[in-house]
Amino acid sequence: MNYRHAFHAGNFSDCMKHALLVWLLRAIARKPAPFCMLDTHAGAGRYALDAGPAARTGEWHGGIGRLLDDPPGVLTDYVGLVRGLGLYPGSPALARALLRPQDCLTCCELHAEDAGTLRRLFAGDAQVAVHQRDGWEALGALLPPRERRGLVLIDPPYEQPDEIFRIVAGLRTGWMRFRSGIFAAWYPIKHRAPVRDLHAALRQASLGEAGLSDIVAAELWLREPVDAARLNGCGLVVVNPPYLFTEEIPLILDALLQRLGTRETGEGTALVRLVDE
Ligand SMILES: C[S@@+](CC[C@H](N)C(=O)[O-])C[C@H]1O[C@@H](n2cnc3c(N)ncnc32)[C@H](O)[C@@H]1O
Repeated sequence: MNYRHAFHAGNFSDCMKHALLVWLLRAIARKPAPFCMLDTHAGAGRYALDAGPAARTGEWHGGIGRLLDDPPGVLTDYVGLVRGLGLYPGSPALARALLRPQDCLTCCELHAEDAGTLRRLFAGDAQVAVHQRDGWEALGALLPPRERRGLVLIDPPYEQPDEIFRIVAGLRTGWMRFRSGIFAAWYPIKHRAPVRDLHAALRQASLGEAGLSDIVAAELWLREPVDAARLNGCGLVVVNPPYLFTEEIPLILDALLQRLGTRETGEGTALVRLVDE
């Protein structure tokens, strides 16, 4: 495990994932019934940008650094949370900020140091549980949540070549146990072939009696995805997207591209329906 999220915190792909995460959590909280979020690959929770690893790479300058001042209307909720939380919030800190008293958050993180940081962040918080454990295995072990309502975020580091396909297996495992749950899985877009293969595998996973249904993918790319050595874009596949997802998410993607794009050839956004409801 070499990947450390601190080097990439607040970059364009973090902004895309986190802006959509905030939208998803707000959507779940439209109903008063309690929900639980499972964050299978949680990271360290929050990150300094002006010191340490994030300052060394400077990736955040091309991400949250371009959104902080006068954000477009559809991004004000996300950017307001970032401003309010001080350090750049990862998925656990954003989720915690949006929990109501009846909701809960379960975080899994395998890296000992990051898991320790996360534990300290949420020490004494009765609404948050932190486990140093394998997030893939947690999909089988920790679902469904007692509340029977919730969001599962799957955000692996993609260090293994087959990790993009573990997404499909992980979604299947989770969905078999928690069919009413909302699942969101982030994936990198470097070049087209693996994304095409992921879409095809998800469509394939919808076949048969226990097949997944209602799957969409939101994507943003800063340039033509043709260089396999470069993160050219990213996507979020969502199973059971909440009401208005397909109407409102394209506006968020376009606003992100407007600010984060550098007008390179082939930049764009897409919302693709992969499997019908
Ligand atoms: C992309 S980062 C997560 C970022 C976080 N979700 C956020 O948005 O702030 C991926 C994390 O997964 C952790 N990790 C790697 N393999 C794991 C596994 N099998 N189970 C749980 N965590 C894992 C890494 O240590 C890393 O912190």
